[in-house]
Amino acid sequence: MEVVILDDAERVGPVGADAVAQHVRRNPEAVLGLATGSSPLRVYQELAARVRRGELSLARCRAFLLDEYVGLPADHPESYHAVIRRELVDRLDLDDSRVLGPAGLAEDLAAACADYELAIAEAGGIDVQLLGIGTDGHIAFNEPGSSLASRTRIKTLTAQTRRDNARFFGGDPEAVPHHCLTQGVGTILQAGHLVMVALGQAKAEAVHHMVEGAVSAMWPASALQMHPHVTVILDPAAASRLQLADYYREAWAAKPDWQEF
Ligand code: GLP
Repeated sequence: MEVVILDDAERVGPVGADAVAQHVRRNPEAVLGLATGSSPLRVYQELAARVRRGELSLARCRAFLLDEYVGLPADHPESYHAVIRRELVDRLDLDDSRVLGPAGLAEDLAAACADYELAIAEAGGIDVQLLGIGTDGHIAFNEPGSSLASRTRIKTLTAQTRRDNARFFGGDPEAVPHHCLTQGVGTILQAGHLVMVALGQAKAEAVHHMVEGAVSAMWPASALQMHPHVTVILDPAAASRLQLADYYREAWAAKPDWQEF
């Protein structure tokens, strides 16, 4: 796990975009995994800026979302597909038809989950997966207690997550759907490269458990310790509970120019 602690939050965008862009440089048809939430927004802004300047093209990429609320109409502004379209896809040269998310409106949700797994597999798997982390250590919507081998399925959101996400629903936790479809921890662990962004003091405890705690379903993000290629991008507040922070800083400062993410 490469832990990158950036002193300047402005650097989160370029560093995260570099991590994604290296895959597209190697393979213009790279399969991207996209995350919602505020954490990856700077990365998305930077990717969009590079596309605008003609430095990067995602036109031949395909993308898969991590998760989706159950029951929100497709045109609801907070459905995750709508969020990703607004925050990222509309600003790229990537056609929205190349972006797929779990079908939270499907009549048969279990079949929709199985179809989603199949679609990812048929695309050849995800090359680079962006991730954020919940204050309770969830990744995608894999809440504490999630099987670390889980696949895409329906989950019930915790009261904490609904409180955290209420800011997108007029401040009312009751307006946040109770259920979601989410890639499982096992699904996420199959992506080739995981790029996690965590910012702010509220994430410090979860980041500590993810990077330095015991691997446990109580902190689903700790499963990232089992993946051979993970980049964790943090600001100083999110990194404030890391015991080995000095070492991570030294390793990043001494990283050879030739070494990619
Ligand atoms: C939601 C998403 C997660 C995201 C988390 C943190 O629960 N399902 O994928 O990581 O929010 O969001 P934020 O980055 O806004 O703190």
